Amino acid sequence: MEIVHVAAECFPMAKAGGLADVVGALPKYQVLQGHIAKVVVPMHRTEFLYQQQWELVHEGSQYLGPQFFHYSVIKEKSNGLGFDLYLVDINGLLDREKIYGYPDDTERFIAFQNAVCDWINSWKHLPDIIHCHDHHTGLVPFLLLHGIDFKERLAKIPSVFTVHNAQYNGAFSWEQKYLLPACSLQYWSLLDWHHQINPLAAALKTAWKITTVSPGYLQELRSSAAGLEQLFENEKEKSIGILNGIDTSIWDPGHDPYLLFHYTVSTAKTGKRQNKEELCRRFGLEVDRPLFCFIGRMVHEKAADLLPVAIAQAVATHPQKISFIVLGTGEKSIEEQLDLLSGPLQGSVGIHIGYQEALSHLLYAGADFLLMPSRVEPCGLNQLYALRFGTIPLVRAVGGLKDTVRDMGDPGGFGIRFEQPHVTDIVHAIDRAVSLYYQQPAHVDSFRQLVMQIDHSWHSAANEYLQVYKSLK
Ligand code: ADP
Ligand code: GLC
Repeated sequence: MEIVHVAAECFPMAKAGGLADVVGALPKYQVLQGHIAKVVVPMHRTEFLYQQQWELVHEGSQYLGPQFFHYSVIKEKSNGLGFDLYLVDINGLLDREKIYGYPDDTERFIAFQNAVCDWINSWKHLPDIIHCHDHHTGLVPFLLLHGIDFKERLAKIPSVFTVHNAQYNGAFSWEQKYLLPACSLQYWSLLDWHHQINPLAAALKTAWKITTVSPGYLQELRSSAAGLEQLFENEKEKSIGILNGIDTSIWDPGHDPYLLFHYTVSTAKTGKRQNKEELCRRFGLEVDRPLFCFIGRMVHEKAADLLPVAIAQAVATHPQKISFIVLGTGEKSIEEQLDLLSGPLQGSVGIHIGYQEALSHLLYAGADFLLMPSRVEPCGLNQLYALRFGTIPLVRAVGGLKDTVRDMGDPGGFGIRFEQPHVTDIVHAIDRAVSLYYQQPAHVDSFRQLVMQIDHSWHSAANEYLQVYKSLK
């Protein structure tokens, strides 16, 4: 089968979060299964772009409203990623340093999607599946079916749309409809949700199949989907939840190039200790205390706003007995409050505001516990990386966290779960972890060994996607 993945992010080309990890891993496993998997993302100006060699494979032009634009498609030359990576370059629109967050993001992603459809339409053969990810590519399933220039050849290609995060839907005003490529008029309503053009809604209505990144999240979306609940309910017959995997060739404590000290299940105790020493040295923390970490986007859905108070309370409850490291970036007010903690709680708390891939790997390896108090978590990859690195997760039981972490109080359990994204629940979960650490160190070691052996590799998820594709042919 030939599968084309369309997305805004793909690791290692451009990453803002877990979407990149998935789009950079699933295709690799599809190639290993004997398929052709291609990924196309915008040509963001990232380090990876300048490190690699590229060849020009296509040039074309389209309209964005009255504005005529040229685009080019370039392909990564080394073939070292395990799949074919293509970038769409549109001068002045896509070639920017950040992936998102510009006032003209609507224009940028419409132009990107238009160019992708136009490029695929120029192929001599057609792919078997077009697999789109999140709202930045949500107009593609609609354009394949109803775009005047595309429908003749492309309407027969099955489209799959994966919802990684329905908190964001990319909605924009009907006044901007002139930006869209020409479409059959009678189908305009497929773009509408609550009197706006809503790319996520359009994808839900028009993709041949919808997947969400965990089964639990699919259930939750029917009652909580930032205004799209009814639509998830309407489309439930064509929806399925498939739990994400992790790329075990990258997330491997035995070979991780970001780590100085490698370890396996049998050497986890010393290996993790060495990485912890390195972390504690960098952040001025005491190595014999339990080390908790948070890694992630500092936004409301991750409940990052609760961290400053929760951490301050936990440190006050266990003075000189616990340490925290927080790595993240996001809302300024949360960043500032966290920064303010590092002064008074020096010696107990280390804060790194920013995005640092290398530090995140060291944290998964060196921390004892990973905290994820998320209000919303469609899948969550952090807890899966933590498990692979022998770090015990403390999670709020929601979405993919609920699907992947079993409480240690239950048979076969290994993590700590709590019900509400509230400071009291978080602090209580930390209390449980602190008791475990000081009172049952042998249990900590056995949980570490247990969790490192849980198989969350992409193999089974890649098979589930294959079944979805086959059901559409
Ligand atoms: P989301 O995609 O909602 O942000 P996930 O748990 O799916 O959440 O994935 C987050 C990914 O981004 C993980 O690979 C995590 O290690 C990484 N990450 C998040 N914030 C940072 C950061 N500040 N520095 C390095 N890596 C980060
Ligand atoms: C989204 C979700 C996250 C998920 C990731 C990859 O960003 O917020 O929970 O793990 O996509 O699917």
